[in-house]
Amino acid sequence: MTANLADSMEVLEQLRTEAPPRIAAATSVADLDALEADLVGRTSPVAEARRGLGQIADGAIRGATGKAINDVALEIQGLLDARRTTLEAQEASVRLASDAVDVTLPGHAPRRGTLHLIQSTMDEIVDIFVGLGYTVATGPEAETEFYNFTALNIPATHPSRLESDTLYLDYGDEQDEVLLRTHTSPMQARYMEEHDPPTYVVVPGRVFRADAVDATHSPVFTQLEGLAVDENITLGDLKGTLAAFAKQFFGTDTKVKFIPHYFPFTEPSAEMHAYTNGQWIELLGCGMVNPAVFEQVGYDPARYTGFAFGMGMERMAMVRHGITDLRALLDPDRRVLEQYK
Ligand code: DAH
Repeated sequence: MTANLADSMEVLEQLRTEAPPRIAAATSVADLDALEADLVGRTSPVAEARRGLGQIADGAIRGATGKAINDVALEIQGLLDARRTTLEAQEASVRLASDAVDVTLPGHAPRRGTLHLIQSTMDEIVDIFVGLGYTVATGPEAETEFYNFTALNIPATHPSRLESDTLYLDYGDEQDEVLLRTHTSPMQARYMEEHDPPTYVVVPGRVFRADAVDATHSPVFTQLEGLAVDENITLGDLKGTLAAFAKQFFGTDTKVKFIPHYFPFTEPSAEMHAYTNGQWIELLGCGMVNPAVFEQVGYDPARYTGFAFGMGMERMAMVRHGITDLRALLDPDRRVLEQYK
């Protein structure tokens, strides 16, 4: 036996005592992999000793030495394998525990959207009038000058016809310009042209004016038009209907009053004010349909009378909820929107 071989056999003996506590101390499969390479891998003392075998001339000695090396290697490999089984099981159970789904936990409920306050206000007000027997119609947002102004008895000199107040579009002709409707009233004329009396209709919709945005103005807002035409409709019907609406929308003890006003398409005309939150506040415009409008649409003014009204949805919502700045209604912030679910 060469000195070399004797040395490496000594190292192997040492390994036999050192390896078990090292293997037992490995705490992960990765640790154990490194340790295995160290103990029995290609550069380990075991491999070194095997390579030395070839130098042993005596076959019997070579055989005995080879067996001794193998015994050590097998012993260490056995310990490594046992430890590996334990560590793999431990790691698998840790992984299982951390990946586990607890089906008893509450789920993540998706956030539900809400109707915008303007939409819900409009829906509610339309419902009130449907309850009073009205039907619902809608009309075009791009309207002709004829329906927006002329058919409603609005004179050519009226300021609302000015380009500074109204958003004109680039089509249409000089006789009949096309514009973004400034109110929902044009549907009064359109609807009467298409339907014979008795007529009870409300028209919700968007309207447009050349205004900058501030606390009380927006170039786009929402109106609801109302029109009732029948035999024997009186100012009393107008007042009763609109007072009933105000009580349903703002509360049963809501007081209203009518203040004379001027609109070209109604005669007489009025503003309805309501007493809410300790003050009188203007809510809407109204009046008895001007016979001139009946003539435009082919209703017999000798036989029929009627009333009309127009209100802003933004204003209704603001008065009801005490909102003082219209811009809150244009804000897409969910914290604002969700207050009015
Ligand atoms: N169209 C009017 C406006 O936008 C509101 C209005 C007033 C409508 C009186 C009516 C009415 O139907 O009778 O200011």
